[in-house]
Amino acid sequence: MEKLTALILAAGQGTRMKSKYPKVLHPLLGEPMLRYVTDAARAAGAERIAVVIGFEGERVQAAMGPELEYIWQREQLGTGHAVLMAREFLAKATGELLVLYGDTPLIKPETLCELIELQRATGAAGAILTTRMQDPAGYGRIIRNTGNEISGIVEHKDASSGERIIDEVNTGIYCFTIAALREALAELTPQNAQGEYYLTDVFAAFIGNGLKVAGLLTGDAEAVMGPNDRAQLARTEAFLREAINQRWMAEGVSIPDPATAYIGPHVRIGRDTTVFPGTFIFGKTVIGSDCVIGPQSRIVDSTIGDNTEVQYSQVFQAELGPQNNIGPYSFVRQGTVTAARVKIGGFVEVKNVRIAEESKVPHLSYMGDAEVGRDVNIGAGTITCNYDGVSKHRTIIEDEVFIGSNTNLVAPVTVRAGATVAAGSTITKEVPAKALGIARARQENLTEWVSPKDRAGK
Ligand code: UD1
Ligand code: CA
Repeated sequence: MEKLTALILAAGQGTRMKSKYPKVLHPLLGEPMLRYVTDAARAAGAERIAVVIGFEGERVQAAMGPELEYIWQREQLGTGHAVLMAREFLAKATGELLVLYGDTPLIKPETLCELIELQRATGAAGAILTTRMQDPAGYGRIIRNTGNEISGIVEHKDASSGERIIDEVNTGIYCFTIAALREALAELTPQNAQGEYYLTDVFAAFIGNGLKVAGLLTGDAEAVMGPNDRAQLARTEAFLREAINQRWMAEGVSIPDPATAYIGPHVRIGRDTTVFPGTFIFGKTVIGSDCVIGPQSRIVDSTIGDNTEVQYSQVFQAELGPQNNIGPYSFVRQGTVTAARVKIGGFVEVKNVRIAEESKVPHLSYMGDAEVGRDVNIGAGTITCNYDGVSKHRTIIEDEVFIGSNTNLVAPVTVRAGATVAAGSTITKEVPAKALGIARARQENLTEWVSPKDRAGK
């Protein structure tokens, strides 16, 4: 099969978003809008994907990363101009070019595949994806001849009143033969109502040069039109959320209130897991089977083992083992790795901590930059003092240690296997194996003391 390349136009600002950020970076279920388009292009078989950037282009590059190629369009002189900026990129490519907009996150790979197949089957220089709109105002209209073949595209602002009645519009999604496109691009001029280089003019050039143009009419107008303002953005997210949640329910995941479960497009979830309301699962998160996630939880870029519960808590860039119990109201941060049957209970923050099997941090603790062995019990209110204001230091707690409540572990420090730390200790040096570490002022009871209240009452 011929090579497929994709070019995604994303240089515009998206003025109606009223945002300092480019439209294509507005998130939908935790991913920039543009990610849905690059995913669809990839799923349709595109090997190389380039994005035309302009407005806040550095931000787009930073958000989307190095797997894509970027082409600068410093001034937005029209869709044709955007593709002209890709001349060098296209000079290296052969086969077909899929052209998409970065702001159409609902586009389906199947639709793109149909368009590519049509283009290949008809040998057209360009195939256009079209749709019918109840209110076609603003869009380019598809002009067909008496034989029902596409004979041109007329922009709304250039259209006659007769042409404006046409309800079949150009979606802006095309599949081109790269060689034919390159030739037609050379003929583009900005002689039109908007003084722009219209990409749509390449079709007139194709027809003028006796080349074929094909059209694919899709009934799914919703999927090919992007959101233009924040209200449409919210509707788009709701649509995606509903589709993703339906898919997971079909796969055996329980989502009792799908309207309040937000699951990103790259998340994976095992069977018999329940996702309770008010929960956000984003990024490259993988959740096992038989888990209870939520209510009111947020999990990003994390792995959650089978049979683990996360309730009223946040988990960020962490790897939780099976049969863990997290929450309520805890914050599991980056670099945390837990083994089986670990408990991180209520009001606990952990960061960059490895915790071995059966260990528990049940209440109100902060554990940072620590190594915790198996069968360890961390008493309520225990704090690792990991930061001296300049550097972070590690705390090592070996197997079967018991840390009494309200302990401060001043890192770097090690508590050896089987040791006990007395409640209220501030531990600054190693506690040997099986020893009792006690580091607090001794209690004194002053029996002759008279309280101010008793004194006043005299
Ligand atoms: C374009 C089509 C129109 C079609 C409509 C569908 C042309 C001339 N017209 O309209 O037929 O019905 O899309 O939405 O192509 N962009 C750039 N650089 C530019 C201009 C645009 O990257 O210089 C990007 C924008 O970021 C956006 C996309 O191209 O993602 C479409 O731009 P927009 O201005 O919305 O499209 P129109 O030209 O109005
Ligand atoms: Ca548009």
